[in-house]
Amino acid sequence: MPPSLVVAHGPGRVNLIGEHTDYNGGLALPFAIERGVTVTAAAAPGGEITVQARDLGEEDTFALADPGRPGDHEGWRAFARGTVAELAAAGADLRPAQVVVESDLPHGAGLSSSAALAAGLCLALLGLAGEAEPGPGDRHELARLCSRVENDWVGAQTGLLDQLAALCGEPGRALRIDFRTLAVEPVPLELADRRLVVLDSGAAHTHAGSGYNERRAECKAACARLGVETLSEADPAAADALPEPLRRRARHVLTENTRVKEMVAALEVGDLGTAGALLDASHASLRDDYDASVPAVERAVEALKAAGATGARMVGGGFGGAVLGLLGPGARAPDRALAVAPADGARVLSRR
Ligand code: GLA
Repeated sequence: MPPSLVVAHGPGRVNLIGEHTDYNGGLALPFAIERGVTVTAAAAPGGEITVQARDLGEEDTFALADPGRPGDHEGWRAFARGTVAELAAAGADLRPAQVVVESDLPHGAGLSSSAALAAGLCLALLGLAGEAEPGPGDRHELARLCSRVENDWVGAQTGLLDQLAALCGEPGRALRIDFRTLAVEPVPLELADRRLVVLDSGAAHTHAGSGYNERRAECKAACARLGVETLSEADPAAADALPEPLRRRARHVLTENTRVKEMVAALEVGDLGTAGALLDASHASLRDDYDASVPAVERAVEALKAAGATGARMVGGGFGGAVLGLLGPGARAPDRALAVAPADGARVLSRR
């Protein structure tokens, strides 16, 4: 007998380092966080799915057999309908349901509420269909499915960073992801007397509407000129001969990949001074080479520095969103800052 009620949780994510590298075949080091989206799916009569976004006070009802087409809807509705459509297309035998979505993630703050929603929704709907919780291998497939929702249904040409982090997260570890192979390697994140916090810049960002898609197009143009599939394969000297702004975009990707390797090495030996310096260097590169900062983000970086952060950088797609800071011993976080630490990936909380 399939269950009549499934509760699942999709976590938000923080990326320690490795920004705008995922769609460039590079390296990143994200982790899932405790906060996220909780999805409660209850079997319902009829042939419809109703999704209630509790925090927004909004609701959407659609036929399970016809969730609509890409581009028909925007925002969270596009995620919900797209997830149902992609699960069905992948062969899931979904059931009509009454779904409630609740989130304790700051919306639009760059902690990937979207991947949290898609991952939580997948697990809840698959659970209600009587399927077992996905194992490690299936999680890569689900990440791709969630990414199709974002690319095709929401119109944001994002990579796989958020979905892999939300689905594969582990407590106490960051995930070193190689986007060339999609290999995920857990890396212990031991910070001794330091803490990681995120501070919302207050400038909400959306991928579909920000400079994100433009950066992606620039990277593609740089690849075409260099004759490579991804910027991570580019020869640094050849990349340095590209016209502006492509030269700086490529330089960001190549130097950011190196910083991910250096961060993993620093964490392995507990060199947190270097870890902080790498966060600063990543931010400078995102600001100066990738042109992905905005004044509100710079102010958030300064606020964290003033509070005693030994390193701070924008996280996620940029053009707004949250800033991550590594606080030194005794530093007092700014009032609105949120402590973050690696937590479990998406999971089923209960079924009955
Ligand atoms: C967003 C996207 C990710 C990734 C980051 C930048 O979070 O969803 O795929 O590209 O920006 O690193």
